[in-house]
Amino acid sequence: MRTPLMAGNWKMFKTPAETKAFFEKFLPLVATSTHADVAICPPFVDIAAAVDAAAGSRVGIGGQNCYWQNKEGAFTAEVTPAMLKAAGCTYVIIGHSERRQYFHETDETVLKRTKAALEAGLIPMVCVGELLEERESGRTNEVLATQFNGGIAGLTPEEFAKIVIAYEPVWAIGTGKVATPEIAQDTHKAIRDLVAAKFGAEAAAAVRILYGGSVKPDNVKGLMAKPDIDGALVGGAALKAEDFAGVVNF
Ligand code: PGA
Repeated sequence: MRTPLMAGNWKMFKTPAETKAFFEKFLPLVATSTHADVAICPPFVDIAAAVDAAAGSRVGIGGQNCYWQNKEGAFTAEVTPAMLKAAGCTYVIIGHSERRQYFHETDETVLKRTKAALEAGLIPMVCVGELLEERESGRTNEVLATQFNGGIAGLTPEEFAKIVIAYEPVWAIGTGKVATPEIAQDTHKAIRDLVAAKFGAEAAAAVRILYGGSVKPDNVKGLMAKPDIDGALVGGAALKAEDFAGVVNF
């Protein structure tokens, strides 16, 4: 009942010309598979090129972050969710671990950004995940509970019904160290239990929880076979049309 979502996060890679070239290769490779929703989140400067190139296809475009209000203002270098929507975006990534680690984003700002994104009509993909030392010291579920309860638990049930959660263990991002399907499944289940405790069983059954962290064409099948894994948020492997098509067509 949950449609899988395969989302690419390009991070700080590619120019508008490279974006156009990517879509020329990528779209024919995913034209016949319709079992999953597909998204690409390029850098802000590539959004226009991506929206243009993906027009008429089933690939939705997303931002990698947004400001926490939709009212314009004097906030140098920030972009409102409403601007992303007007530029043709469907999605926005919020609270990626790189934003949390390097740019000091907190659960509180994650919640504010998520609310603003929903207000603008975007689908937020809200990221949570533990650090290596947190996993090794057995604190994964505690960390996720803190991120959840201090962040998206503050949404209304109506708002919550519109978001996607991305579980991204920080130790698996860009490291080539993918979580085993069993580890990912256990943690997705733990997140779904947090959702059930706060928003009820129906909301927990409906919310899509993506796995992120070194997803590749050769490991996606095992992950997607698990009952609580509803898709992937893909970094490195989303930069090459053939690789990302391999993930989408899992
Ligand atoms: P990765 O990145 O696939 O390169 O590990 C995932 C992410 O950060 O979303």
